[in-house]
Amino acid sequence: MFTKKAATQVAVIDVIARRWSGRAFDPQRGIDHQTLMALLEAARWAPSCFGDQPWRYLIWDRSANPDDWRRAFNCLSEGNQAWARHAPVLMLATADSVFTASGKANRWGQYDTGAASMSLILQATALGLMVHQMGGFDADKVRAEFQIPERFACMAMIALGYQLPENQIPEELKEREYAPRVRRPLEESFFLGRWNNGFK
Ligand SMILES: Cc1cc2nc3c(=O)[nH]c(=O)nc-3n(C[C@H](O)[C@H](O)[C@H](O)COP(=O)(O)O)c2cc1C
Repeated sequence: MFTKKAATQVAVIDVIARRWSGRAFDPQRGIDHQTLMALLEAARWAPSCFGDQPWRYLIWDRSANPDDWRRAFNCLSEGNQAWARHAPVLMLATADSVFTASGKANRWGQYDTGAASMSLILQATALGLMVHQMGGFDADKVRAEFQIPERFACMAMIALGYQLPENQIPEELKEREYAPRVRRPLEESFFLGRWNNGFK
């Protein structure tokens, strides 16, 4: 398997270093039900404000229901469709804007949903899957197609599957698959005590 381990400034746990957003999915290899359940279970145990669990996910498994998978796929931007067409599973992460328990506005719903997605992705990485989140999709279209209630914000679509063996990565994907993974230096995002006082 082709890996793009992060060149971290400091050593981090392996699964974080190994997670990356690849695009070369193996069209022959679906995700079995138990594996998919394990990913959802990881997301389910994410922390959330008041324990309200504001996330809701829609899952489209091409092997179980190709028509629904296609309807979801058709909501992706053209650029994402070009590579996501080989992902056997697509998901949509949505975030509740209202606390279930109190009915009050929940301004942490999107934050918590991102945390749940990251749990799912780390579990997937640990199990050898590849995951790629996408903001490039038509949120109005997916809402209408799948009757998503207004109070849930459509945050990201997610492509999941297994990576193609390296010798089968298509020519048109090679440049992006091999592009180095980059981040701002740590001290430009993390401040000690005062704004802009980079943590070193
Ligand atoms: C909310 C969100 C939206 C994204 N949207 C897209 C997208 O529409 N298309 C795409 O190819 N990648 C998308 N990405 C992937 C990012 O480009 C990628 O995570 C980033 O470049 C860092 O690379 P890495 O995940 O491999 O570390 C998105 C990621 C996130 C978290």
